[in-house]
Amino acid sequence: MTARRSEYLDALGLQAYVPRLPLPLGSPPPPVAGESQGLGWDDLADAVSDCRRCALCGTRTQTVFGVGARDARLMVVGEAPGAEEDRQGEPFVGRAGQLLNAVLRAAGFGREQVFIANILKCRPPNNRDPLPAEVEQCLPYLERQIELLRPALLLCVGRIAAQNLLRTDVTIGRLRGRVHTLPSGLPVVVTYHPAYLLRSPGEKRKVWDDLKLAMGVLRDGHRA
Ligand code: URA
Repeated sequence: MTARRSEYLDALGLQAYVPRLPLPLGSPPPPVAGESQGLGWDDLADAVSDCRRCALCGTRTQTVFGVGARDARLMVVGEAPGAEEDRQGEPFVGRAGQLLNAVLRAAGFGREQVFIANILKCRPPNNRDPLPAEVEQCLPYLERQIELLRPALLLCVGRIAAQNLLRTDVTIGRLRGRVHTLPSGLPVVVTYHPAYLLRSPGEKRKVWDDLKLAMGVLRDGHRA
């Protein structure tokens, strides 16, 4: 913006519009947005269900807050609701969800023992990838959920969850197989998305290896 334009706006008592830049990769997560900061579970759930922070509020059937035990040690984070999740208001209830349940069961967890949420609380039309601006608006809700839950471990399923929570563009193939740490100290394990596993069942072995890594962290803790 030119100095002259800024002077005009000042004189009119108007605030200049400054476009929000996407967060640079590798930067620490933004502070939890004012609206969700300090909210308890119920107020946070209300804030999500009333949310109009991005255009997805115009195409959703309902928001998908997340489900599970509010004292879970394991939090699973996926990408965004699909068609079935948008209809039912619960994450991972379609075919991918059934496979996720089976993977969790094999690792010794009932679905009700973990907490499951997504990067986005609303379904992107036609299941397209979340836009950076949508993630920027929605991530504070997930960050507040993580603060409230204080899990011992985050399991990111799929590239979108992993790259957005770890703030990196490294491929999922290179992110999986080791333990990452958020700036808060929370350990994170990355694995393939169950929808990808449905298409590539040959990768199940790698997911099982990731789950064993996750179980090890839950059992023994992780030193960054
Ligand atoms: N895929 C996701 O990433 N999340 C869901 O809730 C359902 C499918």
